[in-house]
Amino acid sequence: MPLPSWWTTDPTAPFVLGPRTFPGRVWAASGCFGYGLSVHDMTDEAGRTPYTGLGAVVTKTVTPLPRTGNPMPRLVELPTGAINSIGLENVGFEAFLAETLPALEAAGVPTVVSLAATRPEEFGAMAARLMEHGARCRHWHGVELNLSCPNVAEGGHDFGARPRTVADCVAAARRHLPDRALLAKLTPNTADIAALARAAGEAGADAVAAINTLVGLEVDLESGQPVLPRRFGGYSGPGVLPIALAKVDQIVAQAGVPVVGVGGIGSAEDALKFFALGAVAVQVGTAQMRDPFAAVQVAAALRPQAAQRP
Ligand SMILES: Cc1cc2nc3c(=O)[nH]c(=O)nc-3n(C[C@H](O)[C@H](O)[C@H](O)COP(=O)(O)O)c2cc1C
Repeated sequence: MPLPSWWTTDPTAPFVLGPRTFPGRVWAASGCFGYGLSVHDMTDEAGRTPYTGLGAVVTKTVTPLPRTGNPMPRLVELPTGAINSIGLENVGFEAFLAETLPALEAAGVPTVVSLAATRPEEFGAMAARLMEHGARCRHWHGVELNLSCPNVAEGGHDFGARPRTVADCVAAARRHLPDRALLAKLTPNTADIAALARAAGEAGADAVAAINTLVGLEVDLESGQPVLPRRFGGYSGPGVLPIALAKVDQIVAQAGVPVVGVGGIGSAEDALKFFALGAVAVQVGTAQMRDPFAAVQVAAALRPQAAQRP
């Protein structure tokens, strides 16, 4: 695709977000690329690794304790995307600190650590421990708070649903992260996403990432039952692109906080739509599960012609 004349940004050039300079504006989204390590020795026909030109790999969300995740099946493929109910399976925060973070640093992977917890204080405690362990990690650029989990301290409602809780989580993490970028990842399952984004910005987030998955359900017609044992899952992929664009547009217009756009991106054209609306960076999720070079290809295709010349 010839790039439109208004697009003059090289998304593989360094870009400043909060206190940090990222190596680019196209990132791999959380949960769709593991911890970014299982593919680190792959190369494509152009000799690229799955990180070439990427600004960051957002890790699979890490929780204070290890989680085995939800019962199988956990993923339903649809013509327009996928519905997943992984249940935040992860190695747990201590194993992540001891093994995964050092491995990411050694492999030179630009990293944003995704965290989830059930109380704002836990976000603060994890941020503090990350800083203790990772202060010297050159490639660890930031933290993304996954705010789509139940808030135990306030009766189990979704963290993502209340501006006040978003603010409490952001403030708790911010005080321990003086020199790393802090992002709040917002749920689209709300009437007013701009209010959540404003709360995150006022509490000290450098940016919000929008959107996480939408609540979805698929029915198995033979049994007449939902396919996923937990009934509902998170819907993602090409079908959510227009919804993600609408949410990003609302945030840009009403919240005054930088936005990293995510949802349904599978091509450079998709990514450009987010940039056209004012997103400062983008993340590629579901498309990465089919092709670990999806984000790399988006980044390469968005380089203006002058930058593409050797
Ligand atoms: C299998 C799967 C696992 C995911 N796990 C996480 C996760 O651990 N943390 C998180 O913040 N988002 C998670 N997401 C959401 C994605 O990061 C992304 O926000 C969402 O899927 C929309 O982008 P996409 O349409 O490009 O996939 C997951 C998505 C999928 C499909």
